[in-house]
Amino acid sequence: MKVKWGVIGCGGIADRRTLPGMMLLDNVELVAVMDANFEAAQRCRDKYNAKYAFDNIEELLAIPEIEAVYIASPVFCHKQQAMAAADAKKHILIEKPVGITSDEAQEIASYCEEKGVKLGVGFMMRFHAYHQKMREIIKSGKIGEIVSARAQLTCWYPEMANSWRQEMKLSGGGAMMDMGVHCVDLIRYITGLEVTEAAGFKGNQIFNYSVEDAGCVIFRLSNGATAYVDANFNIPDAAAKCKIEFYGTKGSIFAQGTISQIEGGEVEVLCADDSAEYDAGQNRGEVKPLKMDVELGNMYAKEIEAFGRAIKGECEIPVTALDAIMSQKVIEASYVSNDTKAYVTF
Ligand SMILES: NC(=O)c1ccc[n+]([C@@H]2O[C@H](COP(=O)([O-])OP(=O)(O)OC[C@H]3O[C@@H](n4cnc5c(N)ncnc54)[C@H](O)[C@@H]3O)[C@@H](O)[C@H]2O)c1
Repeated sequence: MKVKWGVIGCGGIADRRTLPGMMLLDNVELVAVMDANFEAAQRCRDKYNAKYAFDNIEELLAIPEIEAVYIASPVFCHKQQAMAAADAKKHILIEKPVGITSDEAQEIASYCEEKGVKLGVGFMMRFHAYHQKMREIIKSGKIGEIVSARAQLTCWYPEMANSWRQEMKLSGGGAMMDMGVHCVDLIRYITGLEVTEAAGFKGNQIFNYSVEDAGCVIFRLSNGATAYVDANFNIPDAAAKCKIEFYGTKGSIFAQGTISQIEGGEVEVLCADDSAEYDAGQNRGEVKPLKMDVELGNMYAKEIEAFGRAIKGECEIPVTALDAIMSQKVIEASYVSNDTKAYVTF
């Protein structure tokens, strides 16, 4: 059965990735699109063959046939729009971060629960076939007990007039909240481990907006492993590989280019010889990488499809608000740690 969708916010990510992903699916019908900029809404209506375009949320939410909304507006709009959608009994797939703060995200989540609507979050990188495969490999024990993980996501993001993302009170944070949060979320998802303690730094080394242009967080995972994530708005796109790495007691996983809006990249899995003993020489012999058989697809199509199945009761919500809130809390902890020079315990 088709899920009938409304889309709130027809800008960057909706038009560039999520709507094209939605168009690949059979189980969806795009009923209406809305953007504060009516021209953007009209453009998306025509491009993706929606029935209606609006410049206000009320008209969209008043359409009874719409079952679910995808909220891809700037973060400062999320709370009011998600609550209005919940009042209208629409299920909600909302972009990350859910709210300006994790407390606001929690408020939104509690409100949706109270109103009996499902809330899912757009951490689409969890749907990347390589990330799912890495999770499977780690779960199988092939690389042993995880002892270390690290990930990075960067871009070049110079000062721009009227950019909501560069304004702390409109976005909730800069490079770390916008991009580092994907890395934290992936480490939690792929290892299946929770964060127990975190510390971090942030700053404005190159650009002078009110959010950080770079930051990092170091954290401990629930099995005792340590992890590190960094995110920058000040590294040219051409110079970045956006790597994610996991090390275990029996092997390691190295990926580059998988942390991206396009499902691709390269992954290498190295498994040590099980019979290996202590080697004072630390000789690093040749190890044949494990073969990675995956079928790459479109992460945005997969997230829309999975959330659609969840609202039909066919599966659990794939990325819950609780999950998103925890990843956001880790980023907030890095900010607190930067300011207090102490680390945060969860
Ligand atoms: N998961 C991902 O891959 C990914 C990537 C980029 C952005 N995002 C998230 O998506 C959200 C939107 O980011 P973006 O990069 O698309 O931003 P954007 O600025 O490119 O687009 C936002 C759109 O919302 C519109 N808008 C502004 N105020 C509005 C309102 N009150 N109601 C409806 N529309 C309004 C703007 O006109 C614009 O068209 C953010 O939460 C962001 O973090 C997710």
